[in-house]
Amino acid sequence: MLRNPKKPTIIGIASGKGGVGKSTIAVNLGLAFSHLGKKTVLLDADLGLANAQILMGLDAPFDIGDVLSGNKATKEVIVDKDENFALIPGASGNVSLANISSIAASSLIDSVKSDLEDIEVLIIDCAAGLAESNLAFLECCNIKMIVVQDEPASIADCYGVIKIESKKQKMGNVFVLPNKVNSQTEGRKLFDKLNQVCMKFLEEPVNYAESILDYQLVSALNRKRESLFPKHAVSPAAKNFTALANKISELSS
Ligand SMILES: Nc1ncnc2c1ncn2[C@@H]1O[C@H](COP(=O)(O)OP(=O)(O)OP(=O)(O)O)[C@@H](O)[C@H]1O
Ligand SMILES: [Mg+2]
Repeated sequence: MLRNPKKPTIIGIASGKGGVGKSTIAVNLGLAFSHLGKKTVLLDADLGLANAQILMGLDAPFDIGDVLSGNKATKEVIVDKDENFALIPGASGNVSLANISSIAASSLIDSVKSDLEDIEVLIIDCAAGLAESNLAFLECCNIKMIVVQDEPASIADCYGVIKIESKKQKMGNVFVLPNKVNSQTEGRKLFDKLNQVCMKFLEEPVNYAESILDYQLVSALNRKRESLFPKHAVSPAAKNFTALANKISELSS
């Protein structure tokens, strides 16, 4: 394979509160990029259950924990989903990964990049939470998507992540990504609310690209371990994820 002359765009999908849709978005955004013809890899950096693997309907004998421990190279653990999309599976309950430092996360990402030199997009499904180890992988990303749902605990925890990024003076590439909203207008309003809080207390804005709507099709497919692409590529849900992929491509070009 030819070497990708450009560095891959690294997109982190994070949240303060758990269960707001990070893995769903990471997987479907990856499928959308793949459908657009981009060589895409999803790294499941969550430590709970190996969520992405389940959502993608894949079985994997090895995982990122084997790469971290030096037992395997990335190419030995990666599992193909389709021609353009592959998964680096997550390691459930791996203590080293649970307590990973930013430096260790960054060197792990460097080894993934050099092992997989032709990738154009690397998506990282991060663990929920505000602890340093939860956000370690986010620091390696060119684009940081903080997923939020329109409910008080999720909004408060989304602001918590943004505040941490603001303190590190790294707000330029932080995006609020409303999920499970009923319309783009509703998502934009949720973003505006958070942005106003940022302007008032952090004295700087946060960024916005797109909202993801609540789709019965998405939750039904998740339950069945089936994928939105290519079978449902013309559904409104697939178009929504494609729109997000296109906006991210514009940002990183
Ligand atoms: N846009 C959506 N439309 C419909 N259902 C959704 C959507 N996004 C997420 N869900 C559903 O919400 C639930 C939680 O999603 P998911 O597992 O992706 O969240 P998560 O943030 O990765 O959770 P965790 O923090 O535990 O890793 C799942 O049942 C999923 O099917
Ligand atoms: Mg998850």
